[in-house]
Amino acid sequence: MEDIQISEKIPEITPKPAKAAGDWAPPPLGGRAFTPCTQETSPKVRPPRVSGAWRSFSSRHFITEATKEVLKTQDPACADRPESNGSKIMWYGYIDIAFSPHSEYWRQMRKICILELLSAKNVKSFGSIRQDEVSRLVKSLQSSSGEAINLTKKVFAFTSSVICRSAFGKVTRDNDTLIALLRKAVTMAGAFELADLFPSSKLLHVLSWNKYKLLRMRRKLDMILDVILEEHKLKQSGEFGGEDIVDVLLRMQKTGDLQFPINNDNIKAILFDMFSAGTETSSTTIDWTMAELMRNPRVMAKVQAEVREAFKGKTTVEESDLQALTYLKFVIKETFRLHPPIALLPRACREECKVDGYTIPLRSKVLINIWAMGRDPEYWHQPETFQPERFDNSSTDFLGNNFEYIPFGAGRRICPGMNFGLANMELPLAHLLYHFDWKMPKGMSPDDIDMREVEGLVFSRKNDLFLIPTVYNYNPSN
Ligand code: HEM
Repeated sequence: MEDIQISEKIPEITPKPAKAAGDWAPPPLGGRAFTPCTQETSPKVRPPRVSGAWRSFSSRHFITEATKEVLKTQDPACADRPESNGSKIMWYGYIDIAFSPHSEYWRQMRKICILELLSAKNVKSFGSIRQDEVSRLVKSLQSSSGEAINLTKKVFAFTSSVICRSAFGKVTRDNDTLIALLRKAVTMAGAFELADLFPSSKLLHVLSWNKYKLLRMRRKLDMILDVILEEHKLKQSGEFGGEDIVDVLLRMQKTGDLQFPINNDNIKAILFDMFSAGTETSSTTIDWTMAELMRNPRVMAKVQAEVREAFKGKTTVEESDLQALTYLKFVIKETFRLHPPIALLPRACREECKVDGYTIPLRSKVLINIWAMGRDPEYWHQPETFQPERFDNSSTDFLGNNFEYIPFGAGRRICPGMNFGLANMELPLAHLLYHFDWKMPKGMSPDDIDMREVEGLVFSRKNDLFLIPTVYNYNPSN
């Protein structure tokens, strides 16, 4: 098993010399420059915590302006990812896409991902898998009509099955282990481990409990993915006749005329990327959307009216029907504004650069607080209110052009799975809203819904969402 490389030097941040000590404002950087949160917050809405000892900070307008500089002018300089034991071990020594340093290798793998794995054609071809999984979800909810169910778990099962079947061709028999590994790895990669904060202490690394746990997890992951690769080598056809992501990668390994040939470890790293980047991001956004809709009955009524009018009397909702759902798209956008699943965009400097006059040294961690920018009153009217109408007649999109709104990131590392992620959210949400009316469990009111985030790379809701679905009778004559 590989050894953990230790960086001996923590870069220091050099503040602008022109500013007096009392005026000094924190640059939006990680590492030693993290400061306690200074934003005035209502008791209900606190900025997400990064980890036990560290807090995210949110100096509002300053951050949005600095973000423009980091992701636009300085994008080439800030296009690396921070290193951590978690990502290094679980993502095969950074030979995946998400944690790979900016390099020619990363460029090649990202190109394969965009053109071959997650192309519009492939996302569409995975539509039959989505349809199949969504009918399974609806059936299971119908069978629990009138009872409180754990919606968070049901939705997570839906997304993980869609990703698994699209990537591996089927839901593997080790799916539960894979999910457990994914959850732990994402938490550990997102957490600032003690050993990462004090990299010069070799002792800490040797004693690092996490490293031992991570190596064990990685061995388990290897065993599962090796079986999947072997099965695909023997039988090269994906579900529904098309190629799944493993098939494509094996084809590229065999026949692709690649500058950097890929071996099984490269393939496994990409597969874990797809699974980790694709599952929790979409499922947690569906979860946040349903939580917000329960707390905002006006919006719930409006979006259900739209869906029910568009699909009047239909027993199934096709993906092509979703185009008509303008208000649902605003609802999803508004959820991303208040609850971006990757709330702190992780970047690292590959060369020294200047942001707002501050010198940012080579290898500094740069964390961009998307969460705070989505609530910046400089850019958003009544930012704490869930108000999807704000996106009506607005040119704000997901493409990273508006720096106060970047749920999929921006610049050269912008999310390549955007269309896949959106497709995996729109269809199940339309079904949940079309087929069911939703109530809180007995004795609970929507104000009791816990809106706190959990720590990690993905900011999910801290506690699962329990709701009561009641089957909606769209044909009253029945
Ligand atoms: C709701 C859905 C999703 C959201 C909100 C989301 C968000 C993000 C964000 C914020 C980044 C970092 C971008 C940056 O640094 O500028 C990212 C990167 C990435 N995402 Fe997504 N994502 C989603 C779904 C997906 C899906 C479905 C996949 C693939 C199956 C995927 C694959 C990736 C990969 C591979 C990267 C790394 C790109 C790179 O470093 O070059 N994402 N995503």
